[in-house]
Amino acid sequence: MFDSRLKRCSQLFPSLIVLLVFFLFSNVSVLAQAHPNARDLLRQMTVEEKVAQLSQLPGFPIPEFVQQVGNLEDVIRKYGAGSVLWVSDPKQINRLQHIAVDESRLHIPILFGLDVIHGYHTIFPSPIAMASSWDPKLVESAQSIAAREARAAGIAWTFAPMLDIARDARWGRMVEGAGEDPYLGAAIARGQVLGFQGAQLGAPDHVLACAKHFAGYGAADGGRDYDSSYIPEEQMWNTYLVPFKAAADAGAGSFMSAYMDLNDVPASGNRWLLHDVLRDTWKYNGFVVSDANAVHSLITHGYARDGQDAATKAFFAGVNMDMASGTYLKYLITEAKQGHVASQQLDDAVLPILEAKIKLGLFEHPYTDEARIPEVMNAPASQELARNAIQRSVVLLRNENNTLPLSQSQIKSIAVIGPLGDAEADLLDMWGALNKPGPTVSILQGIKNKVGESVRVEFAHGPNLRRDIPSFFENVPFFTIKEQPKQSPEEARKAIDDAVELAKRSEVAILVLGEIALMSSEAASRSNLKLSGGQEELLEAVAATGKPVVLVLVNGRPLDISWAAEHVPAILETWYSGSQAGNGIADILFGDANPAGHLPVSWPRNSGELPLYYSHTLTQAPEDASGFTSRYWDDLSTPLYPFGYGLSYATFSYENLKLSQSEAKVGTTLDVAVDVANTGNRAGDAVVQLYIHQRAGSASRPVRQLKGFRRITLEPGAKESVHFKLGPDELQFWSPALKKWVVEPEQFDVWAGDNSQAKLHGEFRLTQ
Ligand code: NOJ
Repeated sequence: MFDSRLKRCSQLFPSLIVLLVFFLFSNVSVLAQAHPNARDLLRQMTVEEKVAQLSQLPGFPIPEFVQQVGNLEDVIRKYGAGSVLWVSDPKQINRLQHIAVDESRLHIPILFGLDVIHGYHTIFPSPIAMASSWDPKLVESAQSIAAREARAAGIAWTFAPMLDIARDARWGRMVEGAGEDPYLGAAIARGQVLGFQGAQLGAPDHVLACAKHFAGYGAADGGRDYDSSYIPEEQMWNTYLVPFKAAADAGAGSFMSAYMDLNDVPASGNRWLLHDVLRDTWKYNGFVVSDANAVHSLITHGYARDGQDAATKAFFAGVNMDMASGTYLKYLITEAKQGHVASQQLDDAVLPILEAKIKLGLFEHPYTDEARIPEVMNAPASQELARNAIQRSVVLLRNENNTLPLSQSQIKSIAVIGPLGDAEADLLDMWGALNKPGPTVSILQGIKNKVGESVRVEFAHGPNLRRDIPSFFENVPFFTIKEQPKQSPEEARKAIDDAVELAKRSEVAILVLGEIALMSSEAASRSNLKLSGGQEELLEAVAATGKPVVLVLVNGRPLDISWAAEHVPAILETWYSGSQAGNGIADILFGDANPAGHLPVSWPRNSGELPLYYSHTLTQAPEDASGFTSRYWDDLSTPLYPFGYGLSYATFSYENLKLSQSEAKVGTTLDVAVDVANTGNRAGDAVVQLYIHQRAGSASRPVRQLKGFRRITLEPGAKESVHFKLGPDELQFWSPALKKWVVEPEQFDVWAGDNSQAKLHGEFRLTQ
């Protein structure tokens, strides 16, 4: 019996050996996938496979790209791919991932990247709105939901946060960032990175963040998108780089190099930025991706001679990954084979990309579970947070005679008027509408939801809103937003007349005006900020009926509302507020939420004032001096509303500013306390802001700089003593005279209050 078994076994032996060998070999790659080591992988890679990891391939066929390097699937199959962008359909993502993992030689998964800027399915208010909340925790929570939804769809990398300081409202991309101020910008940057990535890169349900656009993109000449930025080194360190440093410190795993020339060297070929600042000074060890096509654009800039020159200039400046231009794939392979790029340099560039994929768990879980997607996208808590974010970010700019909140019990008829009144996709802005947004509540619908059947709510669209020159994004396959149809002058006139008639037969008119989504964001600069397309005429005609008017602004940048600021009793800045727009805005209009958003930008009177920012240095003769002054002779040069400004349905007092010391040695941390009280008759949030000014030093210092803020909730009659720290981090600056960071023994002013023109003052001296 035993013998026969032994015999049978020995007969089976060769097959067992074959099976074992097969098992071992087939599992070498499985094991390598489960516990990969970036350096081991590198050792197995050919030059082509390495350069493929340095390449991000467009997820839809761009003819020039295909012509240059071939079809997407073929490239992945042959060499693998570092990343693919602009695919948001989970099925497509899984399909492409299968090609990479099953069919490419080393089975390295693809890192799918997308612009998940303020939401994937649940769209939160635009970044400028989120910054208006002055609430980094809220920002973190929102981006963590955005991350969860994106990750569920198979996107493991977002091209956000956008950290460009923007001081010129002509620049369309102001909407994508946190405004003009480095201190607020840094706090919001940290919140975003933590929200996207979680406590550390690789946290479940989170994605890799990408701090963009490094750096100085917001200072484009004349506010024209992509135009050159000329930024002196002191402004780079003290202002433009500050939010990026905060993002790097918070662990942002990737950076994106910007498009424009910075001081005559394109940012995507700028070694000072990408190497000296980022790697050498900040010791950054994540990776840098170029902006889309920016490596190839080094030629258009007049900086690179040809594709080969562009590839090496970007590579040696410090761009690890070429976004969508194919220049690395086409030229870097030859450069490396010919020894112009040393193999160590190539490995150093690939390593952080592989490491990011490993940390993100892509080797263990390359595919997304399509069955789980509906549950993640439809989580009710996400919609609740989106609504709450609107309540916290809307800025009340004007409220004469307590026009707001409107009383639901007293009003019986409401006219909702304006080309954005019934808009849906436009409320998501360009990036929000890009991904897989869920349903959006229009402002008209939100008001109807709020007041129910008992109030008559009617709508008049007013004239259609279009750009004078159409947006190119209308032609891009994965963008769904459109402009409003063309109208004849007669049709536009009639639309205004109809709106006026509606206002006449209603008790109150809510005008929803501003910019359709394609009027702001990328390639959407404008030379003047007036309410365009007949909207100003519409507003003035409705106001002339004598009915109370509430102006609800939907826009991506401050607009010229000088007339409204004097004649319209209530003005709400809502920016683009996302999926829950109508509901969140109605909560504010009818007083179920109390506004507490504050401006993250100085609001100009008109575009002639731009660039405009509160933290400028003093001129020899400031605006309020007599005699020769720097003011315009045809208008004021001050903002219409200052940075940090925002009203509430409550009122607050700021008193008793106390400093722990009036004199202290350099290096000391002082405590500043201020008493804030709610003097109104309803609960509300105050955004307590702290500003400083250094009176003299090795360089002229800004008239004011934000150095602390806190958003607090106070019941009527309640008072809180709010404390801030002023230590070396807050008091230092990069001195252009000394070419280093300094804290100087000088006299300092301190102000606390609810905007950058706060009056409550204190002072202290730092000594050696
Ligand atoms: C170009 C934009 O400048 C950038 O912000 C974006 O992330 C990329 N395109 C990818 O869509």
